[in-house]
Amino acid sequence: MRTESKITVSDLMEMITEAQGIALNLVEDLTDEQMLGPRLPMVNPPLWEIGHVAWFQEKWVLRHLGKAKPIIPEADSLYDSACVPHDSRWELPLPSRRETFRYVQEVRDRVLDRLISIAPNAAEDYFHHLAVFHTGMHAEAFTYTRQTLGYSRPQLLVPPGRVHSEAAGTGSLPGDAEIPGGTYWLGATPDLPFVFDNEKWAHPVPLRTFRIARAPVTNAEYASFVEEGGYQRREFWSDEGWIWREQSGARHPVYWEHGSGGRWFRRSFDRWVALEEVRDPGNLGTIIRTADGVGAGGVMLIGTCCDPYSHEAVRASMGSIFDVPLVRVSPERFPAWAATWRGDRVGTHLDAREDFRSVRYRLPALLVMGSEGPGLSPAIAQACSRLVKIPMAGRLDSLNLAVATALMLYEMRRESLAL
Ligand SMILES: [Fe+2]
Repeated sequence: MRTESKITVSDLMEMITEAQGIALNLVEDLTDEQMLGPRLPMVNPPLWEIGHVAWFQEKWVLRHLGKAKPIIPEADSLYDSACVPHDSRWELPLPSRRETFRYVQEVRDRVLDRLISIAPNAAEDYFHHLAVFHTGMHAEAFTYTRQTLGYSRPQLLVPPGRVHSEAAGTGSLPGDAEIPGGTYWLGATPDLPFVFDNEKWAHPVPLRTFRIARAPVTNAEYASFVEEGGYQRREFWSDEGWIWREQSGARHPVYWEHGSGGRWFRRSFDRWVALEEVRDPGNLGTIIRTADGVGAGGVMLIGTCCDPYSHEAVRASMGSIFDVPLVRVSPERFPAWAATWRGDRVGTHLDAREDFRSVRYRLPALLVMGSEGPGLSPAIAQACSRLVKIPMAGRLDSLNLAVATALMLYEMRRESLAL
């Protein structure tokens, strides 16, 4: 017996198109190199992952419901996550980037064609929803992959009215709530329009009285925990957590850096700029303003730079100082820190052989500029993965620091800047 669908065909088509559009948008701007990326246990190569998203939809909608043959005959041996070991996904004979995107679009077109020609019933709705939610889960994975690997911030296609900004910046809600003991129902009930397998079915669970924080911890609260030695105090950690902390040597969250004025800053996707001992506050303010202009995620001050909060620096930054995070690092610590940076660490140097305009910068790129006059110190230059030079035709051998930084930043971010 056919049970009527609870959703209109046009709503279903809109949901499918939107989910796939968001997923594609999260990978389309990545370079070929980024589409593969480094082999890490917590991420997938994006080239594989976007193909897997399409394969999943094809498998359940076109092949399972429609009994169609696979579009790519060997697709199961490439994209079935249950059979293809995670480690091997970087070495598979995957279709090229262009072929993969074509496959993704072909699956979507065939799914939409099927919806137009065969009105779905409730049972078929299930598989359409399953594919859409699966795409959504991978959209989340694409986003955290970009953060993990330090790729640029994605330009999210969030339809107007869907941004829940009231959830942001609401501050802390301290204290615990006490949940009285009793029998609770956990799981989904059959009247819901869609449930995942692991939510089936609601069943009674006896619980003892327990306490739980009333809201997630805020970054400010967590920073206090870090500063008060929370990572060194065994009593705050579970056995498993402490083993991880000991093995990882973590002292604070992985994307945090201790910044100027005792504040903490967080790496957001690919953005930092490092400066070594800038002495002129006007230059520093101008550089901060330029960093803001190109969407750089922050400015790192190496060694004893001038005061970024001096009147002159603040004025030259035209207010950008309040938007661009500043991080301080000592020259001694910089090389070790820089060694963990995944993309290029680009320094400008008079002895460099490469023209800064002819280089393809490996992202996320970190620009390292020396101080006015002497330029990069030998130790900091050595910590750079690549040294470039700005050509000069006149009598001088270098430009003003802020001007040179601006040229470099615009060149390095050429591909992500658009009107
Ligand atoms: Fe998946």
